[in-house]
Amino acid sequence: MTEQQQKTPSGAGTDLPDVSGLTLGILGGTGDQGKGLARRFGLAGHTVVIGSRKADRAQEAADDLGIASVRGAENAAAAREADVVIVAVPWDGHRATLESVRDELAGKIVVDCVNPLGFEKGKGMYALPVEEGSAAQQAAAVLPDSTVVAAFHHVSAKLLLDPAVDGMDLDVLVLGDVREATDTVQALAGRIPGMRGVYGGKLHNAHQVEAFTANLISINRRYKAHAGLRVTDV
Ligand SMILES: NC(=O)c1ccc[n+]([C@@H]2O[C@H](COP(=O)([O-])OP(=O)(O)OC[C@H]3O[C@@H](n4cnc5c(N)ncnc54)[C@H](OP(=O)(O)O)[C@@H]3O)[C@@H](O)[C@H]2O)c1
Repeated sequence: MTEQQQKTPSGAGTDLPDVSGLTLGILGGTGDQGKGLARRFGLAGHTVVIGSRKADRAQEAADDLGIASVRGAENAAAAREADVVIVAVPWDGHRATLESVRDELAGKIVVDCVNPLGFEKGKGMYALPVEEGSAAQQAAAVLPDSTVVAAFHHVSAKLLLDPAVDGMDLDVLVLGDVREATDTVQALAGRIPGMRGVYGGKLHNAHQVEAFTANLISINRRYKAHAGLRVTDV
């Protein structure tokens, strides 16, 4: 075996914390992305609370998944009842949603997967300018008492929801300013078969990770694919 083949992948390293007992909340969990993540984390054995602006919609989404450890609630309850909270609302509703549950999110890790993207005929998808720099930095500004981590931007919701897809086969870039929090989210990514969390820098670098989703969407359109990323040599 060569030296390169012997390297332990850092994202899957044994130094990451045991996160198997964590309860996850998902704001906007009734959409494809949130529901897809709820499905995969539920299958991995986590208790997941799907959040929605309407409790009945959240419960409907949970019932639809049919996983015993996944239930629905209003966004505020999902935030309150979870250890780690994923934000999976559209960019349009990002700031207002976070402001509405600021107190419930205090002291928690908040994982932002929101991609601020626009579309124009002839241009395709493109990254929208964000005053704070990125959606994740906006979250950090709105939630001074939470620890914001950016992750799961490049994960295909379609694949997450597809029962024929056993493993996800991609690396998830995990960005944040607090090592303990990025380690936790890397470990969470690693709970989904085939997925690996790889540290991708501080929150200040989240913009290009969010923006790169526009490139992935172009790749998907051209090649009729659900493309993801793999980071080599780690
Ligand atoms: N789809 C993907 O493949 C994918 C991949 C990576 C990242 N993402 C990111 O994940 C986020 C969610 O994507 P999605 O495709 O699941 O979106 P979506 O279906 O359009 O929205 C998700 C949920 O957010 C809630 N919502 C809608 N408008 C809202 C508003 N103005 N304020 C608050 N809540 C609102 C809705 O739930 P209720 O009506 O039940 O409240 C909706 O079911 C996006 O920011 C996207 O950039 C998506």
